Amino acid sequence: MAGNPIAVDFEPSPNNLEAFWMPFTANRQFKSKPRLLVAAKDMHYTSHDGRQILDGTAGLWCVNAGHGRQKIVEAVGAQVGKMDYAPAFQMGHPLAFQLASRLAALLPGDLDHVFFTNSGSESVDTALKIAIAYHRAKGDGARQRLIGRERGYHGVGFGGISVGGIVTNRKYFGSLLNGVDHMRHTHMPDKNAFSKGEPTHGADLAEDLERIVALHDASTIAAVIVEPVACSTGVLVPPLGYLKRLREICDKHGILLIFDEVITGFGRLGTNFATDYFGVVPDMITTAKGLTNGSVPMGAVFARKHIYDMFMDAGGADHLIELFHGYTYSGHPVACAAALATLDIYKEEGLFDRAKDLAPYWQDAVHSLKSNSKVIDVRNLGIIAGIELESIPGKPTARAFDAFLKCYERGVLIRTTGDIIALSPPLIVEKKHIDQIVDTISDVLKEAA
Ligand SMILES: Cc1ncc(COP(=O)(O)O)c(C=O)c1O
Repeated sequence: MAGNPIAVDFEPSPNNLEAFWMPFTANRQFKSKPRLLVAAKDMHYTSHDGRQILDGTAGLWCVNAGHGRQKIVEAVGAQVGKMDYAPAFQMGHPLAFQLASRLAALLPGDLDHVFFTNSGSESVDTALKIAIAYHRAKGDGARQRLIGRERGYHGVGFGGISVGGIVTNRKYFGSLLNGVDHMRHTHMPDKNAFSKGEPTHGADLAEDLERIVALHDASTIAAVIVEPVACSTGVLVPPLGYLKRLREICDKHGILLIFDEVITGFGRLGTNFATDYFGVVPDMITTAKGLTNGSVPMGAVFARKHIYDMFMDAGGADHLIELFHGYTYSGHPVACAAALATLDIYKEEGLFDRAKDLAPYWQDAVHSLKSNSKVIDVRNLGIIAGIELESIPGKPTARAFDAFLKCYERGVLIRTTGDIIALSPPLIVEKKHIDQIVDTISDVLKEAA
């Protein structure tokens, strides 16, 4: 097999795994017992030892249309051949404009301007920068504070971890951005455990924003950023009415509201975006992941008309740049081709409606895990679920990690955060797959210590 690089994938050994410093991974554990994926089609990965692994996580919440979609493969291949790259600054290419228009048409209201990035983290940092620069362009430059929420995940840039609220993602990295504050999270297991869909208690937690406004004064606050459903922290579904109340408070005080929809965008909740699901329109939306079905890295920020117009109006002479921000690969032609093909698939196959139709079955299936004594909460919305396990005393995260390893051994890929299992299969998932995911978790938990 000399000369065939794929052969290496089939012969992993600790000796050749050393160089790659793996992200958000227990490197030592992984390298002592590697789990390599070498191929993927529809709902399944193929592991290096030749097994079929059912994808219970859409990769990392991103492969919404399932794996190996021919239309995307062809679009990407054709675009690399036609034009591999075009400069992103002071030059354009048709696909970026076409994609931006298609995306704008998917979004509600006047969320109709699109700034391209390469990841969710970059989308978040872009939106935060736009928020601060917007107020400055408006003549309100004292508004520089950014407000996030405890347990929020907004990627790993310095902006994202500053507004984020996951302790382990913050505590190693110094003092972070100045002027950031956090609202309380919305997790209330004592009142809301085993809620189906939106929990009924906790809308009043939005009033925590009023506390922060009273402390810092609205005149210093640029924006509030939240995930409509906080997924990476273990699937915290917002209490009924909470997001609507946040919108009202932001409006009252002239604060921009940013929804981080890196996960909830592109059909995860059975609607185009979470903004449609909740009927609450933010000023900006950050996305990535499902935008290209995970096939090529790409992210995007959607901004309302008044934000874009502010930069254009304040921009001065025509030859001057209005926003000093962008990436070499903003609107990369190959990523645009992948995204356009992805949007075609979502539409042609009605995948967002499919997710909506399947959601009740999904809900019943995941809530059946309640009968296991180690399960202390089950949460769900759209095709997302969080299953919280009782931690082993003195060994936080061990029970869920063990379940992850055992499910993988039995051919199902799940994801864990802390002692919570997070599930988000591709939206092409069938009932038999849902049953397999839930049955495997159930069996593994029954046998667990
Ligand atoms: C809500 C949210 N924001 C931002 C990110 C970061 O995205 P990326 O890993 O593409 O930088 C994620 C990733 O999971 C996310 O869930």
